[in-house]
Amino acid sequence: MTRPSAVKRVGVLTSGGDAPGMNAAIRAVVRASIYHGLEVYGIMRGYQGMIDGEIKKMEVRSVSRILATGGTILKSSRSQEFRTKEGRKKAYDNLKAHGIDALVAIGGDGTFTGAKIFEDELGIPVMGIPGTIDNDLYGTDYTIGFDTATNVITDCIDKIRDTASSHDRLFFVEVMGRDSGFLALRAGIATGAIAVMLPEEKRSIEDLVAILEEGAANNKTSSVVIVAEGESYGGAYEVARQVQERYDKYDTKVTILGHIQRGGSPSNFDRVLASMMGVHSIEALMYGESNKMVAMVNNSLKLVPLSEAISKRSEIDSDMKRIARVISI
Ligand code: F6P
Repeated sequence: MTRPSAVKRVGVLTSGGDAPGMNAAIRAVVRASIYHGLEVYGIMRGYQGMIDGEIKKMEVRSVSRILATGGTILKSSRSQEFRTKEGRKKAYDNLKAHGIDALVAIGGDGTFTGAKIFEDELGIPVMGIPGTIDNDLYGTDYTIGFDTATNVITDCIDKIRDTASSHDRLFFVEVMGRDSGFLALRAGIATGAIAVMLPEEKRSIEDLVAILEEGAANNKTSSVVIVAEGESYGGAYEVARQVQERYDKYDTKVTILGHIQRGGSPSNFDRVLASMMGVHSIEALMYGESNKMVAMVNNSLKLVPLSEAISKRSEIDSDMKRIARVISI
C-alpha cells in the first residue's frame, strides 16, 4: 500500500448464493467507509440492481442490528444481463450517475469474474470479499459463511445420527457443494461419517460398499455417508440406490439438507472474519488497491489478485481426507 487515493464514494453489493455473515461484511464496509469520511451506497440484488439503478445511500444506522442475521439485507441474484457488454455499460452509467467511484463486491467466483471484467472494461476499482458457504475460492483459507454452514450441517447430522442409531439405519446425507467438497469433508470429520463422497474424486461404489462391510464387521450398527451434491454419480439418491443394489444389510434412508445450509445466524468466526474483511476492503481501496480479493491466510489478511482467485482451483486437503478415513473405521 502506498498513498490514499481519490476514492470518495463506494458502492457495495452482494451477489451469487447468499452466505451467513454477508450482513456482517456489509455492516463493516458501511461503517469503515463512514469512519474514514467516504460516502457509501448499497446496491440491491447484486449486479442486476446495478443495471436497474436500485442504489441507495447507506448511513451508520442503516446497518444496525444486522450483525447477527443470516441472508443479505442488500439481497442477491445471479444476473444474466451483467454477462453482456450492454448490461455492464448500463451498470456503469448508473454508478457514474450516483458519483460512485469504487466498488466492493461480496460473493464467490461468479461474482469475482463479473467484478474483474467490469474493472478491466470500465475502469472502476473493485475490491472483492469472499462470501460463499462453499469455501472454494483460491487464495483464502476461509470464505464468509463456510464456518456457519459446517455448523448447521453438523447440527443436522447429529440429529440424523440419533434416529439412525435407534433404528440401525444407513443414511446418505447430501450436502451443498456443486463443484467442491469442502463442506462435505469438514462435516464428515465433525460428525464421524463412515465415508464422504466428493466432487474432487470419484470413489467407486465397490469401494464404498467395502467400507460399509468393514464397518459392519467392526460392529457398527448404523452409519452416515455424506454425499456432496456435485459428486459424480448424481447425488445421494443415486449413490444410495447403487449401494443398495450391491449391499442390502441396512435399512437405508436419504436426506437432502438443501438450502437450510445457507441460512441462520452467522457463527462468531464468520462475524469476525466478515468484519475484518469489510474494514480491510475499504482501507485497501483508499490506498489505491483494486482488482483484488481480501483473503485470510494463516490468520492474517492479505490481498490476492481477482484473476488468481478465479482462475486457480482450491484443492481439498489430502491430509484431511486421510484423517477422515482413519477415524471412521
Ligand atoms: O454457491 C453456493 C451454493 O450453495 C452451492 O453449494 C450450491 O450448489 C448452489 O449455491 C445452489 O444455488 P441456488 O441458490 O441457485 O440453488
